[in-house]
Amino acid sequence: MKLLITGGCGFIGSNFIRYWLKNHQGDKIINLDKLTYAGHLSSTQDFQASLNYEFIQGDITDPEVVEKAMDGIETVVHFAAESHVDRSVIDPLLFIKTNVLGTGVLLDAALKHKISRFHHVSTDEIFGHLEADDPKFNEGTPYKPRTPYSASKAGSDHLVRAYFETYQLPITITNCANNYGPYHDPEKLIPRFITNLLNGQKVPLMGEGENIREWLYVDDHARAIEKVLEKGEIGETYCVGAEEKTNKEVTQNILKILGMSEEMVEYVEDRLGHDFRYAIDDSKIRKLGWVPEVSFEEGLKQTVEWYKNNRSWWEPLLNDRPSVDREAQKPYG
Ligand SMILES: NC(=O)c1ccc[n+]([C@@H]2O[C@H](COP(=O)([O-])OP(=O)(O)OC[C@H]3O[C@@H](n4cnc5c(N)ncnc54)[C@H](O)[C@@H]3O)[C@@H](O)[C@H]2O)c1
Repeated sequence: MKLLITGGCGFIGSNFIRYWLKNHQGDKIINLDKLTYAGHLSSTQDFQASLNYEFIQGDITDPEVVEKAMDGIETVVHFAAESHVDRSVIDPLLFIKTNVLGTGVLLDAALKHKISRFHHVSTDEIFGHLEADDPKFNEGTPYKPRTPYSASKAGSDHLVRAYFETYQLPITITNCANNYGPYHDPEKLIPRFITNLLNGQKVPLMGEGENIREWLYVDDHARAIEKVLEKGEIGETYCVGAEEKTNKEVTQNILKILGMSEEMVEYVEDRLGHDFRYAIDDSKIRKLGWVPEVSFEEGLKQTVEWYKNNRSWWEPLLNDRPSVDREAQKPYG
C-alpha cells in the first residue's frame, strides 16, 4: 500500500511513520510537510534512508503540490496542522488557512485521485471543555470549540464529513486526547517541563495545577489510527482517550522520575479561558479491539529517558525560534 502522510515531520506524524515502517514493511510512505517551526527533519533522521520512505517539502494549502503528492496514493493519513493553542491566539488566520483550507485542498485532490481512504487526525478539543462532574466526551457530543485552534480543527472535521456525505469520499476521523512521548516539541507541557528540569530550571505550573487532561502515549495513538484504518467503518468518527491527570499530577510524576522536589515548581498566572477538563469515552474504538498498551507511568518514564538521551534533538529547538511566551505571556499549550 502507498500512503500519503501529511505533517510527518511533526510530533505525532513522525512517530506514526516510524511505527508504520516498522510494522508494515511492504508499504511505501510519502511524507508531505512544509517544515514550519514545528516540523523537524531531525525527527525523521532514523528512517530518512529507508527505501520505503520519501519526503516532499510542500504546503498542503498549495493545490499543485498536493496534486503531485497524491499520485498513486491509496491511503491518506492527515496530521498536518498548526497545533499550538497559544500560537492560535496570536495568529488565528494562519490556523484557519492551514487547518481548514489545507484540509479542503487535500480532500479535493483525494476525491480526484479516487483514494481508498482519507483518515483525518483530529483532537478532543473540538468538544470544548468539561466541569469536574460532567460526563466524558463521546462521538455524539456537540462541537463547542473555544479557541481559534480548536475551532479551525472543528472546521476541518466538518469538511471531512461533508466530503463523505456529499461525494462519498471514504473517510474516517479520530478525535484524540493529548499525546506525549519522544520528539515532542519542548514548547508543549510535558517536554517543556522535562527539558526545564534537565537544565536545572523551575517549571511554570498555571493556576493551582488543577486543570485535567488525558494523556496518551504517542505509539498508542499510532495503534489507534492503525486499528481504524484496518477495522473502522467508512464515514465514522472514533474518540481516542487515555488516563485523566491533573497538570499537578503530571508535574509530580516528572519530578519523581527525576528525583527532584516540589521546590522546582513555580506557580504562574492561569491562561485566560483555560479549558478546565477534557475526558473521553473511548468505548467505540475499544469495540474495534484497540486498547492503550502503555500506562502513563511507564510512558512517562520512557519519555524522560528519551529526553535525557537526546539532548542533541531538543537543545537547538530552545534557541532557534521566537518565544510564543513572550508575545502571549502564556507559559505553555
Ligand atoms: N499533540 C497532541 O496532543 C494532539 C492530540 C490530538 C490531535 N492532534 C492532532 O494531530 C495532528 C498532529 O499534531 P502534532 O502535535 O504532531 O503537531 P505538530 O505541530 O508537532 O506537527 C505539525 C506538522 O505539520 C506540518 N505543517 C504545518 N502546516 C503545514 C502546511 N501548511 N503544509 C504542510 N505541512 C504543514 C509542520 O511542519 C509539522 O511538521 C494535528 O492535526 C493535531 O491537531 C494532536
